[in-house]
Amino acid sequence: MSDSDYVMVMPRPGTAADFQRREIATPQPGEGQVLLRQQAVGLNFLDVYHRNGTYPWPVERDLVPGSEGAGVVEAVGPDVTGLRVGDRVAYTLPLNAYASARLIAADRLVRVPDGITAQQAATLMLKGLTAHYLITSTFPIRPGMIALVQAAAGGVGQIIGPWIRAQGGTVIGTAGGAEKTALARDLGYDHVIDYGAQDVAARVAEITGGKGVNVVYDGVGQATWKGSLASLAVRGMMVSFGQSSGAVAPVPMAELGAKSLFLTRPTLFQHIADPAELQSRAAEMFAALADGKISAQVSHQFPLAEVARAHDALEARQTTGATVLIP
Ligand SMILES: NC(=O)c1ccc[n+]([C@@H]2O[C@H](COP(=O)([O-])OP(=O)(O)OC[C@H]3O[C@@H](n4cnc5c(N)ncnc54)[C@H](OP(=O)(O)O)[C@@H]3O)[C@@H](O)[C@H]2O)c1
Repeated sequence: MSDSDYVMVMPRPGTAADFQRREIATPQPGEGQVLLRQQAVGLNFLDVYHRNGTYPWPVERDLVPGSEGAGVVEAVGPDVTGLRVGDRVAYTLPLNAYASARLIAADRLVRVPDGITAQQAATLMLKGLTAHYLITSTFPIRPGMIALVQAAAGGVGQIIGPWIRAQGGTVIGTAGGAEKTALARDLGYDHVIDYGAQDVAARVAEITGGKGVNVVYDGVGQATWKGSLASLAVRGMMVSFGQSSGAVAPVPMAELGAKSLFLTRPTLFQHIADPAELQSRAAEMFAALADGKISAQVSHQFPLAEVARAHDALEARQTTGATVLIP
C-alpha cells in the first residue's frame, strides 16, 4: 500500500496541454466507501467535454476528469459488506477517474469476472453499458430491424454494431476513411459507409430499398444530424447520444413531422443510477463478452501522466476503438 498518489487535474477549462499532475495523500475510505487501486482508466469523449467546459464545470476550480476505471480493492470502509481487500472491480462515474487510486462508493462497483482483464473492464464500463442501454432500453433491437450507427469504428461504435447483429438486427455503420471503414467491416457491420466520401442517406436508401432504417444511434452530433434524419424510415427513432463533432442546433419540430419521427437524447447515468440496475446491466454486458457477442479490444494505451497526448489523439480522430490510460 502506498501513502502518496497522484491525480491529473485541469485547473480551469482548457486544452489538453493544460493538464497538471498533482501529488495527493492516499485517501482513506469512510463509511460506505472503498479505496480502489486503479490498474486502468478508460478514455472517453465525455472527458473532452468535461476538460474543455462544453459541460458545466461542476467544482470551484481543479477538475479531475475521467469516467471509467478498473482495479483492485485496497482498503474498505468500516460498514462495507460484500467487498474485500484484493477484489477485482470496475465502475463508471462522471468524474475523478484520472487518479492512481481513488475513493469510491461500494455500491457503484461491479465485480470483474475471471478472464476479463482490468484494461478490458475499464473500457467496457462506460462504452459497453452505453451500448447496452441504447439497444435494450432506448430503442430495443428486435430481429429483422435495421439500424444505422454513426462513428462505427469509435469506442461505442465497436461494441454496439456487433451487439445489434447478435440481437438479430442488420447494422449499417459510418466511419471516416479507408482504414476505419475496413475496421468496421471486420467488426461485423453488414454495410459500411465512408461518410467523408459518400452521401450517407443516399447509400442507406440503396441498401434498404428506399425504406430507410428503423433507428439511428448518433454520437457524432452536428456533422451527421441531417444525414441521420434523412436515413430514417417513416416513424423511425433518432437517438442522439453524443456530439463528438459539436452540439446539434435546436431542432424545428417540422423536421420530425415530415416523417413522424421520434427523437430522444439519453444519457448513461440515468440508466444505472439504481445499484440493482447497474449490476444487472453489467452482468448482461459481461455475459455478452463471454458469449462472443461483443469484444473488448484495447486499441491504444497511454500512461495516465501523459493523458494530454491521449486527448489530442481522440479529438484529432486518430483513435479507433477503445483507449486506456495506465496509472
Ligand atoms: N449519452 C451517453 O450515454 C453517452 C455515453 C457514452 C458516450 N457518449 C458519446 O458517444 C460518442 C462516442 O464516444 P466515444 O468515447 O466512443 O468516442 P469515439 O467514437 O471513439 O470518438 C469520436 C469519433 O467521432 C468521429 N468524429 C466525427 N466528427 C468528429 C469531429 N469533428 N471531431 C472528433 N471526432 C469526430 C470520429 O470517428 P471518424 O474518424 O470515423 O469520423 C471519432 O473517432 C461521444 O459523442 C460521446 O460523448 C454518450
